Amino acid sequence: MELLDKLRWRYAAKAMNGEKVSQEKIDSIIEAASLAPTSSGLQPFEIMVITNQEIKEKIRAIGWNQSVITDCSHLLVFAAWDTYTAERINKMFDLTNEVRGFKNEGWENYRQMLLNNYPQKDAEVNFQHAARQAYIAFSQAIAAAAFEGVDSTPIEGFDADALDEILNLREKGLRSCVILPLGYRDADKDWLVNLKKVRKSKEDLVTIID
Ligand SMILES: Cc1cc2nc3c(=O)[nH]c(=O)nc-3n(C[C@H](O)[C@H](O)[C@H](O)COP(=O)(O)O)c2cc1C
Repeated sequence: MELLDKLRWRYAAKAMNGEKVSQEKIDSIIEAASLAPTSSGLQPFEIMVITNQEIKEKIRAIGWNQSVITDCSHLLVFAAWDTYTAERINKMFDLTNEVRGFKNEGWENYRQMLLNNYPQKDAEVNFQHAARQAYIAFSQAIAAAAFEGVDSTPIEGFDADALDEILNLREKGLRSCVILPLGYRDADKDWLVNLKKVRKSKEDLVTIID
């Protein structure tokens, strides 16, 4: 199957059957999320991987009672940095130098430019920027899941403050932005499974500028 066939197979599952997804597939999905591009390569987010059923129940209660939250195999929570700090920026730039084994003047000037700009900005502005990076990784995780034949449901329908409390995210300088149950569809219980995918026309989506 080509990538497009797998993306056509994917849909936002409304019911899952509780079957476990192999660790190998979960690892591939997380790796795909990690390989996502991010602004300045900062990867300003973390991913919680939840299999604990009691915690899933708590999250379902603040997640519009969506059954996939408890009937999935693994629940991914994408949590973005609550702001950019000098420490966080330096950590990623130092890691780059360490991994590549050299220091580069242009790169160090770029680090300084970020240090002179990001930490001084309003925390909410920084969080919104970080959250956008988390969504890119989230999207790659969704595509990777489809590639592995694993169903997923992108979910924004939850109380983010309550989820932050359940997972103690604020204490870690994180804020939840989006969650992704991974598992296998329960076709008999899912009203969406056989409905046609609806997408706007290419004319409405794309403007060609020659
Ligand atoms: C950021 C985001 C948040 C979403 N939140 C929910 C949600 O809370 N519950 C749900 O059932 N679907 C949710 N969806 C799924 C969308 O409704 C779905 O992707 C869209 O209708 C297109 O359908 P398809 O994914 O099946 O192709 C969300 C999708 C995205 C990208």
